[in-house]
Amino acid sequence: MVKIAPSILAADPLNLERDVRRAVDAGCDWIHVDVMDAHFVPNLAYSPDTVRRLKEICAVPIDVHLMMENPGTLLDAFLEAGASNVTIHTETGNVRSLLRRIHQGGATAGVALKPGTSADDAKLYLEDADLILAMTVEPGFGGQKLDERVVRKIREIRDIGYDGEIEADGGIREDNLQMLTENGLTVAVMGTALFREEDMKAAISRMHQMK
Ligand code: DX5
Ligand code: ZN
Repeated sequence: MVKIAPSILAADPLNLERDVRRAVDAGCDWIHVDVMDAHFVPNLAYSPDTVRRLKEICAVPIDVHLMMENPGTLLDAFLEAGASNVTIHTETGNVRSLLRRIHQGGATAGVALKPGTSADDAKLYLEDADLILAMTVEPGFGGQKLDERVVRKIREIRDIGYDGEIEADGGIREDNLQMLTENGLTVAVMGTALFREEDMKAAISRMHQMK
């Protein structure tokens, strides 16, 4: 069963608790927090305090995606705030030591690849990473169109025998999710499409059937 991880980037910033509770009540599996530093990506979003408060109101794991030039600077703060998973980008380097620090902090550790980054970069860390995040849009903003070339990357990572979580993030909708799950996806980050659903519970239930 594919896990659905709503991205709070697409929630109403002035009603974050309302939207998160709606997603959890609708049966989502994780809550995805896109952390952005206005350097690695041209956007700015979320602090460790947001994760701390989410942890207080959410029973589901908090999946933190660090889109930061220097993820190590706030890594301990996100871990102490209660992140269940922390994902860093291969493009920022220093990956192996950061993955070790994430595990020492008691969270699972993910490695993210921008759409243009080769699966070869992920292959270096398959022993250390609990999760590989194949970005299906250029990181920074929600509401973009899914880059279908990334489906091949997901297949490639699965075909080399990686048996951890494979997550995708960006432009995922109910009508393109099956193409991803059929190629090995196990976690779908969804923002725009999900928060627009009239009946989020029914939508998540339908998507849970996809494999
Ligand atoms: C990009 C962001 C988005 C967001 C989800 O850096 O990470 O991918 O979470 O995007 P949408 O709104 O397209 O589902
Ligand atoms: Zn993300």
